[in-house]
Amino acid sequence: MSDNVTAIKGFADLFSPDSDAFTHMEAVARETFSRYGFTELRTPILERTELFCRGIGTETDVVQKEMYTFPDRKGRSLTLRPEATAGVMRAYIESGRSGDAVTKLFTIGPMFRYERPQKGRMRQFHQINCECLGPSEPYADAELVTMAMRFLEALGLKDLSLQLNSLGCPTCRPAYRETLRKWLSELDESALCEDCRRRMVTNPLRVLDCKVPSCREHTAETPKILDHNCPDCAAHFETVRRLLDAEKVPYVINHRLVRGLDYYTRTTFEIVSDQIGAQGTVAGGGRYDGLVEQLGGPNVSGLGFACGMERLALLLPQPEAGADRPDFFTVVLTDVARDAAYALTQALRDAGFRGEMGFSSRSIKSAMRQAGKSGARFCLLIGEDELAAQTVMLKNMDSGEQSSVAFADVVARLQK
Ligand code: HAM
Repeated sequence: MSDNVTAIKGFADLFSPDSDAFTHMEAVARETFSRYGFTELRTPILERTELFCRGIGTETDVVQKEMYTFPDRKGRSLTLRPEATAGVMRAYIESGRSGDAVTKLFTIGPMFRYERPQKGRMRQFHQINCECLGPSEPYADAELVTMAMRFLEALGLKDLSLQLNSLGCPTCRPAYRETLRKWLSELDESALCEDCRRRMVTNPLRVLDCKVPSCREHTAETPKILDHNCPDCAAHFETVRRLLDAEKVPYVINHRLVRGLDYYTRTTFEIVSDQIGAQGTVAGGGRYDGLVEQLGGPNVSGLGFACGMERLALLLPQPEAGADRPDFFTVVLTDVARDAAYALTQALRDAGFRGEMGFSSRSIKSAMRQAGKSGARFCLLIGEDELAAQTVMLKNMDSGEQSSVAFADVVARLQK
């Protein structure tokens, strides 16, 4: 026998009940988001590499280290989407929707990042992603954050921490960046990791995001971006906070929250759980005024967020055991009854019941074992006598009770 072909590292197959959990999350997302006026957009998984370079930023880890990029047969550089936002922006601009006052879109699907796989971190992972295009008002920020929290609550997630920051705008951020760069340059160089020594020059805000303990320790007292927001950004953020307070959406301010992608302005947020280890950020997002324009569209404001479905799945409450038991399992006791049993099984499904039939003519014992394993509430046994009398033996799999029921009455009996 030749060797098995195995799945690629960091790419998973999802069987039930994991796949059921994904279906459930998607259903709750659709229901929640539709209440806020979002409609679904499905974009391609493959895009031109340039889209992500321009959209996400060439200085980010995602673009520098994590993209699955390859030439197609004509030598054009393509990339498996590492996130949904850039593709949604492209579709939004290309479809001419940027003339509309407001466009709210959600996307669900796989994303690809070449990261080191660990618990809650995959190379193919799935995001539930929302983008709201048009509104520049802080009400949109508060509404989006509230919707994200409502969605997670509807999934039954508990003990989540909502972290907020404001990254300012092109008016105030450059000055803060300079202040931070100057502050960092006064540190002993050896205090920072190699990446941070480079980031200090190219993108000093990213130093705040570094996970290396010595970097975090030495940058504990850096100047805070909120103290350097311009009056417009400060007023915007104040309103967002006031609206969240009024809706009783609890949050904490995290001065280090700069996000891993370059497009953010003003409000940024992450939702974090301490229950699933190092990869505890279940959702992240914020405002990105300027991104649409950067990708060749008009000057339209925007904001959005994405949840990682693998991480949400780790936190979902376990469904009640036996909550979705099948209704029946049909066991044939003799070959001559097989067609009648088959017909009855189909009729029960047509009547809305869930169940299966054992086709094999192996032993009755193994058929009963299959019935037990299926978890069905009832077992339908059909042998020669039953066939002659046009009845089935109906066995309650919990109590063991058995009774003879006419074919014509089975639906009514199961409905009880
Ligand atoms: P992000 O923070 O890069 O943001 O990803 C959002 C979420 O996706 C993370 O919080 C995490 O739950 C999940 N995630 C990211 N990488 C992985 C991975 N390798 N394995 C499992 N889960 C992962 C974005 O992608 C932005 N596009 C969000 C956004 C939308 N901002 C505005 N609009």
